Amino acid sequence: MNKLRAAITGVGGYVPDYILTNKELETMVDTNDEWITSRTGIKERRILKGENQGVSVMGIAAVKEMLAKTKTDPKEIDLIIFATVTPDMTFPATANIVATTIGATNAFSFDMGAACSGFIYALATGASYIQAGIYKKVIVIGGDKMSSIIDYTDRTTCIIFGDGAGCVLLEPTTEEVGVIDWLLRSDGSGESYLHMKAGGSRMPATRETVDNRQHFVYQEGSAVFKFAVTNMADISAQVAERNHLTADTIQWLVPHQANKRIIDATANRVGISEDKVMMNIERYGNTTAGTIPLLLWDYEKQLKKGDNLLLAAFGGGFTWGAVYVKWAYNS
Ligand code: UT7
Repeated sequence: MNKLRAAITGVGGYVPDYILTNKELETMVDTNDEWITSRTGIKERRILKGENQGVSVMGIAAVKEMLAKTKTDPKEIDLIIFATVTPDMTFPATANIVATTIGATNAFSFDMGAACSGFIYALATGASYIQAGIYKKVIVIGGDKMSSIIDYTDRTTCIIFGDGAGCVLLEPTTEEVGVIDWLLRSDGSGESYLHMKAGGSRMPATRETVDNRQHFVYQEGSAVFKFAVTNMADISAQVAERNHLTADTIQWLVPHQANKRIIDATANRVGISEDKVMMNIERYGNTTAGTIPLLLWDYEKQLKKGDNLLLAAFGGGFTWGAVYVKWAYNS
């Protein structure tokens, strides 16, 4: 009998309406469109505005779209994993909020925090349950409301991040499609370069932590850049090599959208030309766990059954990895 695999059978996405342009950022911090465009590739990003609007709002919208497109009854969903570092609350899990709102009354659900690699960590986890024959319908969501943890007086971070969420549905198949292979890594020594100091159990919120602006993303950009270029490129090459994938047999590179220069370096390393690299960083910026599912959402109509996709990410932790997916359907 053929091996049971987890096929991606549907995609959903959501980005908020509000567009924060480079021009508007020029009025907020000492920066300019030319610097942002040439250093990052970003032109604009989406921001979720309004009171009481958590990341769940975007996750729910993405999942509802995907359920409608795939004509899936939410009661059939077994598991929902929400990859995010900006949950609605520390607890309960945002995935629980999504499950109840969409009517997934037979599911269990949990959040997964692996920063920019969150979606590929969650994808591998969801796929494992399917491959083991335990569950038949798993929703994997990746999304972040980065605007909730960004200091809009810090020009080194506020120009990069945006808000958005995407999701996929995983179902079992015995065809030679779906999530084929992955390599995931983490290295806690990356903490010093990219973190949010306060608000966790080590440094709970106090008046001082707020006054000292410690509830925002802290990043040593150029150090993270170097680790990202090396590790994302290396792990992508490893997954490609061990699956005998070459530049000719990979149809799409699906890289985390942190910086166009990191994406270009990864593509070069695997020998993939620009026309085969999914890219939407210019419109959404870095949505952390949202970038990869939002790429699949944006490019879904161009994907064909049997296409080889190489997903790759690097982020806070450090966390990084690559996943080989063979696309399972024609839109
Ligand atoms: O997704 C999670 C993982 N994160 C990443 O992968 C991000 C990786 N890092 C990066 O993408 C880049 O390091 C940044 C985009 C964050 C920064 O680009 P960079 O080319 O590494 O710039 P830099 O930090 O080395 O700064 C170069 C100069 C500095 O000025 P001096 O010291 O040379 O005079 C900065 O002060 O650019 C200055 N600068 C800015 N200038 C205009 C920094 N931010 C800005 C800005 N506008 N927004």
